[in-house]
Amino acid sequence: ETGHFTFDPGYTSTGSCESKITYIDGDAGVLLYRGIPIEELAEHSDFPETCYLLLNGELPTAAQKTKFERDITMHTMVHEQLATFYRGFRRDAHPMAVMCGVVGALSAFYHDSTDIHDPEQRKIASYRLIAKMPTIAAMAYKYSVGQPFMYPKNSLKYAENFLHMCFAVPCEEYVVSPTLAKAMDRIFVLHADHEQNASTSTVRLAGSSGANPFACIAAGIASLWGPAHGGANEAVLKMLDEIGHKSRIPEFVRRAKDKNDTFRLMGFGHRVYKNFDPRAKVMRQTCYEVLNELGVHDDRLELAMELEKLALEDDYFVEKKLYPNVDFYSGIILKAMGFPVSMFTALFAVARTVGWVSQWNEMIEDEGQKIGRPRQLYTGTDRRPYVPLTARG
Ligand code: SDX
Repeated sequence: ETGHFTFDPGYTSTGSCESKITYIDGDAGVLLYRGIPIEELAEHSDFPETCYLLLNGELPTAAQKTKFERDITMHTMVHEQLATFYRGFRRDAHPMAVMCGVVGALSAFYHDSTDIHDPEQRKIASYRLIAKMPTIAAMAYKYSVGQPFMYPKNSLKYAENFLHMCFAVPCEEYVVSPTLAKAMDRIFVLHADHEQNASTSTVRLAGSSGANPFACIAAGIASLWGPAHGGANEAVLKMLDEIGHKSRIPEFVRRAKDKNDTFRLMGFGHRVYKNFDPRAKVMRQTCYEVLNELGVHDDRLELAMELEKLALEDDYFVEKKLYPNVDFYSGIILKAMGFPVSMFTALFAVARTVGWVSQWNEMIEDEGQKIGRPRQLYTGTDRRPYVPLTARG
């Protein structure tokens, strides 16, 4: 018997939670946001529209979409005092460490005005989080490169605004490339929600105690940071650089199969998908488009394609049903777009905020919701008496 516990968030007697937001069929490689296939959303929708869908359950009308985008835009600035938090970090602090701290600090600005049982205040808190995450992430990037923070521009769309805050400087006009904006928007759509993954479950568990949503999202950021979860996109790039050349792929595939070796093929495998992660297919296509349109050649793309080919032909990976996941290609695209590896998981957090917030709202709105209380199977020692210090030898 290993020490294990049944996660019972107190929602249902089966120890699992119910949700209407995202559906995954791991064996078939299906991902639906409110019933709509991720491939169709990636092809035809955009991130603001996908946010509306996740939050409200239906695609918006044209008027609803325009109003929603305007409402989000009006929350993109952060309190001027929040900028001082960045000065407390070393310049080389990991952006996810900064995001954990600064997003948690949002509680200090909005805690008193967020009655989580007031639907209107919940909506404003949700919009604030979705709107401010790009600003906070861009500020973390600017701080790491020693450049001044750039304010959001209300004339820009969500993804454009984020890229402008990251790459513009006050000294000259910066025009966001439509290719980059489209790729960024699609990457946000692909990462928006994913059922009860580790970070979403963290947000739900934190929120089940009635904690304010800003602190709950900070908890989600902490969980996402791990290399087994959102940190995998950063780990994939480091792995490809370590492999270096396709002639070394067999050595790394062998290591990945060796139970005595802690090495894992990052970007492969999934807790749920036992087929291709549908997001990975879209990401691979986007990778080609972005590198071609930008005229960027990255040897790592060929290396990734060769690694994917060899792994998918290998009996171990076939038997274990290990396929590329969403993180396998995203890092190559983000590198081509000009982001440092350290920012990859922060971008994942920007996108996933709408999923965390949508699931948090769904939980708070559930009348039967109780505080989460994981159960455990006790495997410790039997009952025994206290032994005085003098009698312990
Ligand atoms: C994300 O939950 C979500 O939805 C997460 C996510 C989201 O959108 O929120 O989809 C985002 O986190 C994607 C996953 C990113 N992580 C990685 O790419 C890291 C590398 N992958 C592994 O660490 C692993 O695949 C996990 C942690 C993702 C899942 O591991 P599990 O639960 O063990 O399940 P599995 O089917 O992947 O593994 C089954 C077997 C295990 O061996 P046994 O214990 O059965 O002998 O395959 C082995 C694993 O040890 N295995 C691998 C491997 N991944 C799993 N062996 C070599 N290389 C790998 N990458």
